[in-house]
Amino acid sequence: MTNRVELRNVSKTFGEVKALQNVDFILGENEVVGLLGDNGAGKSTLIKIITGYYQPDEGEMYLNGQKVDDLTVPKARKMGIETVYQERALAELQTLWRNIFLGRELINRAGFLKIKEMKQETHRLMVQSMGFTSAAVSPDSPIRTFSGGEKQGVAIVRALYFDADIIILDEPTMGLSLKETRRLLDFVRGIKEVGKAAVFIDHNIFHVYSVADRVVVIDRGKVAGEFVTKDISLDDLMDKMYRVAETGFLS
Ligand SMILES: Nc1ncnc2c1ncn2[C@@H]1O[C@H](COP(=O)(O)OP(=O)(O)O)[C@@H](O)[C@H]1O
Ligand SMILES: [Mg+2]
Repeated sequence: MTNRVELRNVSKTFGEVKALQNVDFILGENEVVGLLGDNGAGKSTLIKIITGYYQPDEGEMYLNGQKVDDLTVPKARKMGIETVYQERALAELQTLWRNIFLGRELINRAGFLKIKEMKQETHRLMVQSMGFTSAAVSPDSPIRTFSGGEKQGVAIVRALYFDADIIILDEPTMGLSLKETRRLLDFVRGIKEVGKAAVFIDHNIFHVYSVADRVVVIDRGKVAGEFVTKDISLDDLMDKMYRVAETGFLS
């Protein structure tokens, strides 16, 4: 089994700030890894290295077992990495089906858009993958009418549909309602069910614990420890997080 992502001894500095120091990180083939850590711990920097947004100053990165140098965002996307941000750019004025197929439209041999197929496919995805039951939401609905959670759903479904193997979620529940958050967490569990892998960052330890197979704790740019979720109770994990906050160590 090949790891989807492997970072070895990765460091990244911004001026005086050592955002990451000698970080080793693994994302398995069909695994959801949760990243926990305080503000400024280096979580976003770590995933921005995986998505090609930043290049590490030191260390090596492997994607699907292949060593990659000079990764860029388009290159990462080609290698099957999709990112779902809270502020993920959806085309607000466009319809749902347009957004689902944005930049990857189905085209027939004569070069025309296969609109009917794209709308049908959008409908199927809405019902099967997104769990949209609201009659107000159709393939022709403009995205701007969607709730925050529904927009996240669209972004995740795009990632699933377009064969991303690695889905990165950086604080995706920020600003979502309780109900939307629940749906989002279901989406994340769905990522596993279709055999893909994800890195999930969230401030809320309950969210991370409820979706992650493994939790990696980052503190001041270093990996402070990691846990297999099923081997640790939520209470114990919370205790350990408090201890990291106080001492910088896990014990
Ligand atoms: N582009 C940047 N320029 C300067 N400093 C940065 C930049 N990105 C991140 N940092 C700094 O690196 C550290 C880690 O940031 P970040 O990875 O965003 O943390 P987290 O996502 O865990 O909150 C912080 O001290 C942050 O201020
Ligand atoms: Mg962050």
